[in-house]
Formats: sequence, structure tokens, C-alpha cells
Amino acid sequence: MFDILIVGSGGAGLSAALEAKKQGAKVAVICQSAPTNAATCMAQGGFNGVIYDDEGDSPSLHVKDTMTSSSSLAIEKNVKDMCEGAKEDIFWLEDIGMPFSRKKDRIAQRKFGAASKDRTAYSQDYTGLKLLHTLYDNCLKEGIAFLDNSFVLELIVEEGTCKGVVLLDIQSGEIKAFESKSVVLATGGYAGIYHGFSTNGIESTGDGLALALKSSAILSDMEFVQFHPTSLKSSSVLVSESARGAGGFLLNQKGERFVEELMTRDEVSRAVFSQMKKNNSVFLDIRHLGSEFINKNLPQEKKLINIHEHIDPSEQLIPISPAAHYSMGGVDVDEDLQTNVQGLFAVGECSNVKVHGANRLGGNSLLEIVHFGRKVAKTSYMYAQKTSLHVELKSYEKKVKKEIDKLLQNEKSDTFFALREELGKELFEKAGIYRDEEGLKSLIHNIENIEARYNKLTISDTNMSYNTWLVSHLKFGNSLSVAKALSLCAIQREESRGAHYRDDFQKPANEALHSYVQMQNSALHVRFLK
Ligand code: FUM
Repeated sequence: MFDILIVGSGGAGLSAALEAKKQGAKVAVICQSAPTNAATCMAQGGFNGVIYDDEGDSPSLHVKDTMTSSSSLAIEKNVKDMCEGAKEDIFWLEDIGMPFSRKKDRIAQRKFGAASKDRTAYSQDYTGLKLLHTLYDNCLKEGIAFLDNSFVLELIVEEGTCKGVVLLDIQSGEIKAFESKSVVLATGGYAGIYHGFSTNGIESTGDGLALALKSSAILSDMEFVQFHPTSLKSSSVLVSESARGAGGFLLNQKGERFVEELMTRDEVSRAVFSQMKKNNSVFLDIRHLGSEFINKNLPQEKKLINIHEHIDPSEQLIPISPAAHYSMGGVDVDEDLQTNVQGLFAVGECSNVKVHGANRLGGNSLLEIVHFGRKVAKTSYMYAQKTSLHVELKSYEKKVKKEIDKLLQNEKSDTFFALREELGKELFEKAGIYRDEEGLKSLIHNIENIEARYNKLTISDTNMSYNTWLVSHLKFGNSLSVAKALSLCAIQREESRGAHYRDDFQKPANEALHSYVQMQNSALHVRFLK
């Protein structure tokens, strides 16, 4: 039996694992594939935090910028906790080997959008990748247990208390149940459900949120999905905000600048999308930064731009468009990262501890995953120490195996792949940068239709070892649950706030309310509360 089972091996999961081990907890990390395959790798630009107090910056300014960017929807107490802890988190990372870029004897920091100071620490433009590898190296050093190639199918919840998980061992095809005094979801965000219109990989489709929803956990603020203004036009691959932070311009095809490039992401994305609606192409221009600067500070951008657009950014304009990048909503948690289900915790992008509100400040996501990752280890271990349990694991394995066997039918069947494309396009068009009632009604109707077609599908490949068709099929089912929650919250939020912009309600309401959605009697129920 474990004290803490962590589902997800990104920056939040690994930060939690390291701290849990330090606390003396019996901990293991469950990964859907290999441990370093997490979306954290794709974060490029940096990690926010006030490190030096002689630069005119302060944690309270960081709090202020975060609150302003959140459109009053973040909880100031939690934002303060994060911003005030940032310096300690950065030095902890440096101590365990994170290779931050440096300026003389200091950690270098650069400007990001909507930040009043240069407070984004970075490692060239490989910040997330280096962060993840640093954490993973340390996990190996500490002998932390990893369950690789394991896809969680169900949370074991008895009388409102989470007691473990049931998973598919992808390698062997076996269904296995594990008992744990606490379970921490660290499964990442859901912006990948905008399939074809997202900077995220195909894994980021909200698996943890779907598991939580099935177990009566509450999700909050699901309608807030951040669109990054600069993804490469032909691939939706991210071009970091650090390019604009360093002085990059946004131009339309007439060569005109049309927006202040370092406003909040929601504002810049809307400005870019409005140009596109007028049939204007949009470009990022970093030619004037020079190849020496680009090679030193933006080497990954340069390679990605070359691979995907076949151009040299020091000489040519970069074609861009906005893409779904980050989910502000998630499994609702309190300041201790505890959900409404006893023993179930959530952290990182899959959770909503309400530090981003309606629009996240760039550079705050890596900070969040490390800061609250370390914190959840303490709170979940504290809970575990007061808990004892006994679960009939075999009965869970049997029940879940029966459900999986029902899906595996040795007969010809269509696949879900076309449905995934359809859902991505529907979401981008109707729950994208601009939304309205008519579009959202049609979206809800079409998601139901896609779900009805999905429910008729079976899997004709009945091999159990490495049945990736089965895993992707189940993941798409999770995407549908998340899409339903998102669209229901979006249609009921009759205002514009941050990343949720309604053409038919263009102003924010007087009061900033959070949306909460929960499964009750097999239906989703939405309410809005302070
Ligand atoms: O633009 C970027 O480098 C992204 C950073 C972030 O989303 O925080």
C-alpha cells in the first residue's frame, strides 16, 4: 500500500514525488508512457519569480500583475502564497541542478507579456525540458518508484473517499488495482482537445479531469482556455512569448503593427484573430534581433521554425496564428490542493487552485507546478498519516476488466480518429477565441452527436499487449467528457472575462464568479459561485 500515488510525471508530479520522498512517504509515480514524455517539456519561455530585491521588483508586484491578468478571478491569498514562495522554489531548483541561463553571477531574467518587470527566469528557450529532466534525474537518484506505460482507468472511491486507482498496464495488457492512502492527480491540462488547433501534444486531453468527474469530484472554471497568440501557422507549434519579450513585432501582411505585443495573452490573441477574420495573414518579426541573439537565446525557436515553416527567422517573417495552449480550469481544489473527494488531491494544470483566474500570466505555469507540486506532497502526506484502509482490489480489477472486454470485439469497426478531428474543429470554431450563444448551442448538440457515434464503436484489435488503439480510444472518451463540461460552462457564463470572450455579452459582469461543474445522477450540473 502507498501513502501517495501520483498520477502523472510532469513537473507537478515529479516535484511532488521529490518532496514526498523527503517527507518519508511511500510514494510512486504513474506515467501514461515514459516519465519524461510530459507536456512540461514543451514549455519554452520561463519560470516567473522575484529573485533579487535590488531590481525594483517585489513579490507584491508579481501578485498585482497576476491578479490583473486574471481579470479578478484569481484568489489573492493563493496567488500570494505562490509569488512569495517563488524565490525559494527557484533556488531549490538551482540547488538540484536546474541549468538556468545566467547574466554574470546571477540567474538571468527576461520580460514576458503583461509583466511589469523582467522576472521570468529561463534556460535558453528549453526551460520546461531542462526543468523536467532535472526533476527526473533527482527522482532517479532518490530511488522513486515509477509505474511506466500505465493508463489509469478508474479511481477507487468508496463512501466519498479515494482509496487507490485501477489501471491498464499497457505493456502486458493486465488490469491492476493499487491501494493508496492518498491519490494526487497531476495529469496535465486539456487544451489538446482542440485537436489540430493546439500547441499541446495529443496526450493533453484532460484524462485526470475525466477520472475526477466520474468520481463526483468538482471541476471549476472549465470555460477558460488560453489561446497563445503565436503558434506556427502550419503546425500550431509554439513560438515562445520570449520572442516578443525580447522585442519581436506582430505584423499583418501589409507590414503594419496592429497591437501592443506585450499586452495580456487574451488581448493579443483576439487582436491576431481579428486580423485573420479580415483575411489578413499575421507574422512574427524577429529579424531585427539578429542571428547572434536568436542563436543564443532562442535556439529551439529557430530550429522549430526551420523544421515546420522552412524559413530562417533572422531573415524572414514567421507566419503565425493563435492556438489553444493552456487550460486555466481544472479539478477544483482548496489551498491544500484537496478536492471535494477525501484523499483525492490535484495539482498543476489539471487542477484549479485559482491562481490564474480567467487568463494566466505567461511564465506562471512552471512556477505553479513546482510550487504547488512541492506543497501537495506535504498536505497529501499529512492526510495519509491519519488514514488507514483496506480495499478489495480484486473486485475492482474484475469489474474494470469486464468493461474493457466489452469494448474489444473481434469484428470490423470504424475508429474514433475522424471524430477527434471533428471535435477539435468544432471546439476551435465555437468555443475558441470568440464565442456566442448560437455557436455554443450548436457545439453542445454536435458533441452529443459525436458521443453517440463514439459509443457505438468497438476495438477490433483484441491484442492486449501495447494496444495503443484501445488507449487512444479511451482517451478520446475522456476528451468528450471534458468538452461537455467546458461547453456547458461556456454557454452559461453570460459575460466576457479574460480568455472567455462572448460576442453577445462583451462586458464583464459586476461580480467575478467561478463556475463549478459536477456529475450528479449521470448528468452534468453547473453552478456559479463567488
Ligand atoms: O510563450 C511561452 O514561452 C509560453 C510560456 C507559458 O505559457 O508560460
